[in-house]
Amino acid sequence: MNLTTNYLGIPLQSPLVVGSSPLTDNLDTVKQLEDAGAAAVVLASLYEEEITGEQMSDFFSSEAYGDSFQEASSYLPEADSAPGPDEYLEQLRRIKQAVDIPVIASLNGSTPGGWLSHACLMEQAGADAIELHLYHAASDPAFNSSQVESQLLQVVWEVKGELGIPVAVKLSPLFTAFANFALQVDTAGADGIVLFTRFHKIDFDVLELEVRRHVELSTSAELDLRLRGTAVLSGRVKASLAISGGVHTAVDVIKATMAGAHAVQMVSALMRHGPNYLRTLRTELEAWMLANEWDSFSEMRGNMSFQKIPNPAVYERETFRRMFQ
Ligand SMILES: Cc1cc2nc3c(=O)[nH]c(=O)nc-3n(C[C@H](O)[C@H](O)[C@H](O)COP(=O)(O)O)c2cc1C
Repeated sequence: MNLTTNYLGIPLQSPLVVGSSPLTDNLDTVKQLEDAGAAAVVLASLYEEEITGEQMSDFFSSEAYGDSFQEASSYLPEADSAPGPDEYLEQLRRIKQAVDIPVIASLNGSTPGGWLSHACLMEQAGADAIELHLYHAASDPAFNSSQVESQLLQVVWEVKGELGIPVAVKLSPLFTAFANFALQVDTAGADGIVLFTRFHKIDFDVLELEVRRHVELSTSAELDLRLRGTAVLSGRVKASLAISGGVHTAVDVIKATMAGAHAVQMVSALMRHGPNYLRTLRTELEAWMLANEWDSFSEMRGNMSFQKIPNPAVYERETFRRMFQ
């Protein structure tokens, strides 16, 4: 049974990648993840604001994630203990020395500029690739969609221009014309596209008049949006594709691959069940492939992409039309 894949031009023993999160903050946990079969790890993000010294974005600095996942308390550091730029590089060096699997560093931001030189420092510290987590809140009404998009693309061009290692771009699904923007990211030279960012839950405390944010663990219900986005891009971009969000079971991994993903990034399932869950998943994947007569991931990749199966929306419309003809 051949579980190997190639993600960002890097050969991986399987598509099972540990997604960007505090799971990789602890060296022992990273070693456990490698022993259990993680094919690569993505470190938690270093934020533009941490580098520029501006007010920290609240994107992942939730007040409440400690309370959100009782199941995961042993894998999580304090919510507000994000390392500064120097500590980040030091941690990256330590992890690179401790494991043999590829280590992907993550940078989160949205504006072109000097802070991006940190991508080069990450490369020098040994990162095998950079994941650029592009997120723009787009909450300024004076800033239109093409301005937002060209700013984000400029970030990709700048980082790609400086680096020798591959660059993956993690996107949010909130684009008016997602497929078109993803194609532009591809043209800008991204080696991979990660679908999608997952947002904090926001709630209002109407007594204290405060906004409450917390991160909740996902379920497989979040996969469908990613399957659709991946199926749209599969075969149309040079970049490799990774699904992040809602991958919990072996069948989720199979679905992601059939949509066209080269890798899946898992966080919630590993927080819920611990690093050893990767072993279970590998065993279940092999059993499923054996039972269904698949020898490798490469032969199933993309066989349910938009290029291979009819667009469900058109198909439904046509069926509906024929019924009433
Ligand atoms: C506690 C926590 C912290 C996270 N921190 C980051 C981060 O620093 N950078 C990032 O790009 N994604 C971050 N994520 C998002 C994950 O990488 C992933 O995209 C998301 O959890 C969806 O995958 P899942 O359904 O397997 O959890 C974080 C997720 C969690 C739960």
